[in-house]
Amino acid sequence: MRPVHQSVSSFETKRLCAEPLAAHHLAALRAKLYEDPRVMATLGGRVLSEVETGAMLARGLEHWERHGFGTYVFFAREDGRFVGRGGLHRYLLEGEEEVGLLYHLAAAEWGRGLASKIAEACLRVGFEVLGLRSIMSWTQPQNGASRRVMEKCGLSFEREGEFAGLPHLFFRISEPQWRARFSPSAAEQSRDVPRR
Ligand SMILES: CC(C)(COP(=O)(O)OP(=O)(O)OC[C@H]1O[C@@H](n2cnc3c(N)ncnc32)[C@H](O)[C@@H]1OP(=O)(O)O)[C@@H](O)C(=O)NCCC(=O)NCCS
Repeated sequence: MRPVHQSVSSFETKRLCAEPLAAHHLAALRAKLYEDPRVMATLGGRVLSEVETGAMLARGLEHWERHGFGTYVFFAREDGRFVGRGGLHRYLLEGEEEVGLLYHLAAAEWGRGLASKIAEACLRVGFEVLGLRSIMSWTQPQNGASRRVMEKCGLSFEREGEFAGLPHLFFRISEPQWRARFSPSAAEQSRDVPRR
């Protein structure tokens, strides 16, 4: 894997503000995401305890410290409400180091295109700032909304497999595929891209 070129801390899109994951996000992550059975239905099938969410947060903070990139917490620009978590995280998958794209939204925010915009902004950070060559994402087969988010962002199905002991479908987008799909002029028109 190539080294990270530069880090991206906070950024904004047309509708959202992104802050790097921080310890003070714990309460919102618990209340809006990891203790909500609707959210967890497609993230392993059970809600997380406070200790489990705390451990996940600690792993996310350690990832930022070690790698200079990671996941963000997203807030709505219009009123500051918590929207969700998304970003990039390194994983070892079948012996290969990969960067995975993740997006977890509060149930109240579903169905308005926000996950797609979060995914697109995080891919842009990965390819255009961090200099990554390829990014993967994966989901449980029944998660039609997540598959559609990937499709809208240009990821292609690669293989079936397991993640966390559950069947998953794995998708990927390469840097050239990203460039071909999201030209800088198209991004400028939509303004749904990170602005630092
Ligand atoms: C999956 C998730 C991120 C989607 O968030 P969202 O903000 O509703 O997503 P978007 O609105 O950007 O896009 C969803 C797309 O899927 C479509 N969709 C919704 N439900 C669907 C379903 N059951 N089957 C197929 N497509 C579906 C929507 O119509 C939309 O496509 P469109 O824009 O072409 O109409 C959100 O439901 C979530 O956070 N779920 C819990 C955590 C999770 O599963 N994260 C992904 C793990 S891989």
